[in-house]
Amino acid sequence: MRRLAILVLLAGFASSALAMAAATAVSAADRAPAVEQISDVQTVSPGEVEGKPSGLFDLIGRLHPALVHFPIAWLVGLVLVDFVGLILRREAWHHLGIFVLAGMVLSLLPTAATGLLRAAHMPSDPAVHALLVTHRTLNFVMAALVLAAFALRLWRRNRLQGSWCIVYLALVFGATGLVLLAADFGGRMVYGPDFLPW
Ligand code: HEM
Repeated sequence: MRRLAILVLLAGFASSALAMAAATAVSAADRAPAVEQISDVQTVSPGEVEGKPSGLFDLIGRLHPALVHFPIAWLVGLVLVDFVGLILRREAWHHLGIFVLAGMVLSLLPTAATGLLRAAHMPSDPAVHALLVTHRTLNFVMAALVLAAFALRLWRRNRLQGSWCIVYLALVFGATGLVLLAADFGGRMVYGPDFLPW
């Protein structure tokens, strides 16, 4: 009786193992065409789509992604230096601020110029164009705020006290927020609108 029970149990295990193997084989067979379709898809980088630069201006414009890091880094650096120099009132950092701001102003010209050239040679796509217009406008406003902050600092001969200090900091902090937002739009153009979750 005990042997019979063991035999029945083993037979049960064997049949359920067979049923599972069959089910796996069927579902693998179901998926096979989909896997074939996926393997047909080729990944193509933007460079491969656009091919080689069509001329000198197209080539210069393609330097934009390499240059964009400079204004972003100068401006974020300036926020840190100005925070210590103007809010925590450390004299040495206060003097350093105008040099960091000058570096930011210098980095604007090649970045904006290559951006404009890049925009003129981009393949036309309405979705990308909408992102491009926002990216360009935000960057122009950011550049205006940075130039205003630089002019204010020069005009005040680097002496920023009271309300002038507040106006200056508002310009710098506002410009930093804008450059980060604009960079997000730039990244969406390059990597697609859903690259980041927001
Ligand atoms: C001056 C400040 C600017 C900054 C900091 C900036 C920043 C950026 C960033 C971060 C990207 C993404 C690059 C990547 O992820 O590889 C980008 C792309 C781009 N930006 Fe700007 N940008 C600036 C100005 C401009 C201007 C004025 C234009 C003119 C319309 C422009 C046009 C473009 C274009 C067309 C792309 C896409 C590049 C590509 O697909 O190769 N940018 N930018």
